[in-house]
Amino acid sequence: MTTHHKHCVIIGGTSGIGLALANDYLDKSWQVTIVGSNADKINTLNSYYQTNDNLTIKQCDITDARQRQQLFDELANTPMTHFIYSAGMYYNERKLNLSKVQSEQILAVNLQAFCQCFEWASTQLKQHPKNTHLIAISSVAGLLNFEQMSLYARCKRVMIEICQAYQLALAPFGIGVNCIACGYVNTQKLRELNAGNAHHKPFLCSEKQAVHEINHAIHRNSKLHIFPKPMKYVVRALSGLPELLLSQIMKLQYQQQDKKLHQK
Ligand SMILES: NC(=O)c1ccc[n+]([C@@H]2O[C@H](COP(=O)([O-])OP(=O)(O)OC[C@H]3O[C@@H](n4cnc5c(N)ncnc54)[C@H](OP(=O)(O)O)[C@@H]3O)[C@@H](O)[C@H]2O)c1
Repeated sequence: MTTHHKHCVIIGGTSGIGLALANDYLDKSWQVTIVGSNADKINTLNSYYQTNDNLTIKQCDITDARQRQQLFDELANTPMTHFIYSAGMYYNERKLNLSKVQSEQILAVNLQAFCQCFEWASTQLKQHPKNTHLIAISSVAGLLNFEQMSLYARCKRVMIEICQAYQLALAPFGIGVNCIACGYVNTQKLRELNAGNAHHKPFLCSEKQAVHEINHAIHRNSKLHIFPKPMKYVVRALSGLPELLLSQIMKLQYQQQDKKLHQK
């Protein structure tokens, strides 16, 4: 890989939003490195993309300190232009009492490994800061603060706060930090969690639309980009409400969604 190429690293690039972003960067002739932990997904991707020299696929459990360090060592000599943290782990926490393993996984993927990756990537980007961006894929779930919010939502909320700190810290270096608060995106993972069909989710958007929104946010160097627009307006309106009222509304909203899911 030569240094004049633009290079995007996507942690959590082996499926869903991360993979859709990877395909978009490949279409624009960037060098792309995608990272995921699942060997089956990686084998399938390796056979599909075997002739594409611009793509590197790396297997790494980003929550494992040793594997993560090995990944960082392998990536250290290849300058990056964009670093995207799209890795995420979510369950239907309303339906499920999380097991110890699941709650550990949610915390480790959505928050702890994110912190480690942003710390490493920011140091890397400072070496070649021109036109570089750190991008975090968070969620609108993190924008509403109420007592019964899920562990996933809490992690995504902290992610948004951490991005705000990096925005201030990296501004003198000219490095952009963009936090993306996605509404519902029709990925396979979201469908799997909803009996194969996520169409009952409010303001559901396609992976293609998500890629368009994320590109737009990076291009405009948005600090916090919330999409789709109707979801952004709803979340803005809800976040001004007293916490007790917000809790009640969220409870009703989730009951409504669950009813629609059962009617399918
Ligand atoms: N879809 C939505 O409606 C929605 C809404 C708001 C926010 N988001 C956020 O968007 C991101 C992508 O979600 P998605 O729906 O596209 O889900 P997805 O297809 O499951 O993507 C998650 C990615 O994270 C990777 N990952 C998970 N655990 C990992 C680990 N321990 N080590 C390395 N990689 C790991 C997965 O790869 P492996 O399986 O190979 O490990 C996969 O590439 C997540 O951060 C999610 O929270 C999604």
